[in-house]
Amino acid sequence: MKHKRTRLSGTSIRNRIVVTVLATVVLVSLLGTALSGREHAARLMSGLKAESQVLTSVFGDTLSDPLWDYDYLMVQQRLEHLVDTRAVIGARVFDNRGSKLAEVLTDRFDPDAAADYLVFDHRIVAQSGEWVGTLFLWVSTEGVSFEVWRAIRYDAATAGILAVITAVVVFVGVNLISGPLSRVADAMVRIGEGALDTEVPERGRDGEVSRMADALEQLRLKSLRVEQAERELRRANAHLEQRVTERTAELETAREQAVEANRAKTEFLANMSHDLRTPLNAILGFSEIMRAGAFGPLGDPRYEEYVEDIHHSGSLLISLINDLLDISKVEAGKYELTEEVVDIRTLVHNALRQIATAVEGAALTLATHIPADIPALRGDSRVMTQILNNLLSNSVKFTPRGGHIDVSAWTDAQGLIHMSVADNGIGMTKEGVAKALRPFEQAHNARAREHNGTGLGLHLCDNFMQLFGGSLEIVSEEGKGTTVIVVFPLERVIERKRSA
Ligand SMILES: Nc1ncnc2c1ncn2[C@@H]1O[C@H](COP(=O)(O)OP(=O)(O)O)[C@@H](O)[C@H]1O
Ligand SMILES: [Mg+2]
Repeated sequence: MKHKRTRLSGTSIRNRIVVTVLATVVLVSLLGTALSGREHAARLMSGLKAESQVLTSVFGDTLSDPLWDYDYLMVQQRLEHLVDTRAVIGARVFDNRGSKLAEVLTDRFDPDAAADYLVFDHRIVAQSGEWVGTLFLWVSTEGVSFEVWRAIRYDAATAGILAVITAVVVFVGVNLISGPLSRVADAMVRIGEGALDTEVPERGRDGEVSRMADALEQLRLKSLRVEQAERELRRANAHLEQRVTERTAELETAREQAVEANRAKTEFLANMSHDLRTPLNAILGFSEIMRAGAFGPLGDPRYEEYVEDIHHSGSLLISLINDLLDISKVEAGKYELTEEVVDIRTLVHNALRQIATAVEGAALTLATHIPADIPALRGDSRVMTQILNNLLSNSVKFTPRGGHIDVSAWTDAQGLIHMSVADNGIGMTKEGVAKALRPFEQAHNARAREHNGTGLGLHLCDNFMQLFGGSLEIVSEEGKGTTVIVVFPLERVIERKRSA
């Protein structure tokens, strides 16, 4: 954290601004110095030229009399006087034929350093108007260079001082700006790294930096809230996952328990039914003998009535026990179907013969609708008879006197064989139908029923149909009647050609 802070301030905007401003000041000063130096030099030079021009002509004119008088000594003396003064470093006088008459050269005179001097000339004319000679003056420009360099040095020094002052001012000024900025930037970096408890400096004042700091604080608070929400979400998730795992385990245990309980129940039923059947058979057998009076009359007519009751109750019990035994076998998957060819017309005919007395007793009419060419079925005739008996006995039980029962069988378009038992009896509600299919449940309450039952018949029929790979459907309307349809799968249908 510490080294980051230094690095941040080190490459700061402040330094960049200082360097930029400083470079600009230096550049501008240099340019200014160069320009003003050039101008200064030009001005000095032109001044020197004008001055020297005047000097040459005025001084030249003073030589016209001595030249006219051939007083060359005087000319020489005057030249020596002149050369002593000012920037003149050499002087020569020629006559009109080009012969040198007088010459003064200082030790500064160097004809090779052409850049360091200027040469001026003047034709000397006598009062008579006759050309008597020519004056040449060599004037040094060193003075000018010296002046210019001095001015440049002065300008450069001024610029240098200016640059230093500028640098200091800019440094201090920018520091005032970049200080808060770099503090906010430091906080921003720390918050960016995830240290959301970082305090944001420079807040609550005027200006851009403060506004930035305020925004950063908002961001920090928002991030804090998001982080907290995420944490809570994770916690809730973990809790939920744990609950799901627990519930799954509970459900699995419950399922295992249910499977085990069901298995125990089936086993119990099977054992019980088997153990009950033996004594019941004895009760039935002996009551049958007594009822028939095989060894002589019972005597009192009440005994005959009792024996009748004993036999009737025994029959009900044995059929209940047989149903129970069948159900437990089917549910345990232990029921073995006998696979044989079953002729539907014969099957129905036999079933109707068994129920005929009951139908008559209930004053019902009965009709069958079975096509002569209906295919045979591969099935278990004992089980199929049991199904038919159940359906028929229900119709007899739940159809009031004068009612009608229809037994039909047909093949549908797909070739499946359907069998149905329909009546116009008391019917069932929708819930009644669902109840009727469950074991031990009945669609009507006890008062509505005139007959006793165990509630096992339809459940057993449904289970048998599943064993056949077929299905059982109940279509019923309260007060109108009931139709129960069983459907056998295609693989159980035997074409007439083969069965005929
Ligand atoms: N043909 C029918 N008409 C009206 N209700 C019926 C018919 N068949 C069955 N039920 C209803 O379905 C219930 C269950 O029938 P079932 O399983 O055969 O048991 P049970 O005959 O011993 O009562 C019956 O108690 C009755 O309420
Ligand atoms: Mg029944």
